[in-house]
Amino acid sequence: MAVNRRDLLRGAAAAGALGLAWPLSGRLTVAQATEAAVALGARWDEPPFTLGVGSGDPLPDSVALWTRLAPEPLAETQPLPDTVEVGWEVAADRGFRRRVAAGTAPAGAELGHSVHVEVTGLEPGRCYFYRFSARGRTSRVGRTRTAPVGRVGRVRFASANCQAFHDGYYAAHRGIASERLDFVVHLGDYIYEHGKVGGDHVRDHEGPAVTTLPAYRRRHALYKGDPALRDAHAAHPWFVTWDDHEVVNDYSGTRPSLRRRRDAGYQAWYEHMPVRPDHPTTPRVYRERRWGDLLDLSILDLRQYRSEQNLPDGTILGAEQKAWLRDRISTAGDGWHCWVNSIMLSQLARTGGGYYFTDQWDGFRAERTEVLTHVHDTGMPDLVVITGDWHSAFVDDIRPDFDDPSAPVIGTEFTAHSISSGAYSPEWNATNGPVMGRANPHLKYFEGNHYGYDLYEVTPGRWSTHLRVIGDRRVPDSPVRTLTTFHVDRGRPGSYEDPATRTSPAQYRRDT
Ligand SMILES: [Fe+2]
Repeated sequence: MAVNRRDLLRGAAAAGALGLAWPLSGRLTVAQATEAAVALGARWDEPPFTLGVGSGDPLPDSVALWTRLAPEPLAETQPLPDTVEVGWEVAADRGFRRRVAAGTAPAGAELGHSVHVEVTGLEPGRCYFYRFSARGRTSRVGRTRTAPVGRVGRVRFASANCQAFHDGYYAAHRGIASERLDFVVHLGDYIYEHGKVGGDHVRDHEGPAVTTLPAYRRRHALYKGDPALRDAHAAHPWFVTWDDHEVVNDYSGTRPSLRRRRDAGYQAWYEHMPVRPDHPTTPRVYRERRWGDLLDLSILDLRQYRSEQNLPDGTILGAEQKAWLRDRISTAGDGWHCWVNSIMLSQLARTGGGYYFTDQWDGFRAERTEVLTHVHDTGMPDLVVITGDWHSAFVDDIRPDFDDPSAPVIGTEFTAHSISSGAYSPEWNATNGPVMGRANPHLKYFEGNHYGYDLYEVTPGRWSTHLRVIGDRRVPDSPVRTLTTFHVDRGRPGSYEDPATRTSPAQYRRDT
């Protein structure tokens, strides 16, 4: 019988079996924790490159390379000298006969022996291979790609979000690893900080347990123990943003007690992400990137600078990022404009008033109206917003005023299924899909009974979002299929579902 990691843990807790304990509970030795993690499907690379390799943030002439030395992934401190020199090399071929760049970088204990290399002098629109060496060992080989320049006829990328390790295996990452892609985008909830396993969906607050840098490091190292996640990193360059669970559920602000915890969560995130060298506790996550003349990405950071929710003058972007985004809108050129957005932008109102969640943009309504009115007033066309967080798939029309169904459609938001994090029950979805649809005239589609990732195929004329779903998150190699596909035609605001899949199961559809 197929069981997920959470079922295994529940059963083990009932039986009192140590080999199936939650690996990060404090009472275990490193050896016991490792044994428990292996029982839940963890299998790391050879030391010291146990956590694999990754690349990210591709520009036309440069890319970031990442690894972290962790001979004992679940230990609080690593059996390593304070500083280890790590060699890196980049080649045009997988056999490393045509080497194009090489160097060394220090891996220091103060940053968890992580390595962030900024490789420059590369050719645009090219595939490269890279690897690291240290302490007489060589890492696995990763594949990366630089951004193209000029005319681009097609881009193909995937987004991932919400990958609670205890909720399931990463069959969806196995799928991402095997897709032919230009890059991957991660929309946040890369880890969950939960203290214990329990509850039927992650909006249950399960109590703080991970609060310190060593604990966040161990959590990241456990997640990287799933081989499918490491394969997805090694296969493609990633752009990354974050959401709340990299620190703690629904956090905002910088009060001192939170600030210490936030610094720890941010630094551990930095130490485990394929990002350029940056400040570990205040990394610049928001940025603009182009894929030739076809696609322009605005990667948003909706956590680091936000105020509390539901304030009349509240902000989710912060003043600087908002000025940056407004300027991006004012000066937008030709091509598709994609906002990489961790939490739902579109209004999700309840019948009879109020909102489902005000941790999302619904808690920052004045700022949302300001930004979307600016999109409308400047006439920026071809806006597609890609979103995570909800653990269910939505398709929304974006309007500058969601309360006015006669307001023009200025873009489309695709909210993706989660990789593994628990969604609502099929019963909740069946009941509430139509309820949400009735209360939100811009909502076109809702499906909450699957897990997976979104795959985007973009050409000058059309944006297609394929909802790629796995059969069963309890099965590590569960196969991937396309549940349905939505298209947006260039120059024509609004989406439509592909006729071939319009009869696939969903809990709400507006147009059929
Ligand atoms: Fe999540």
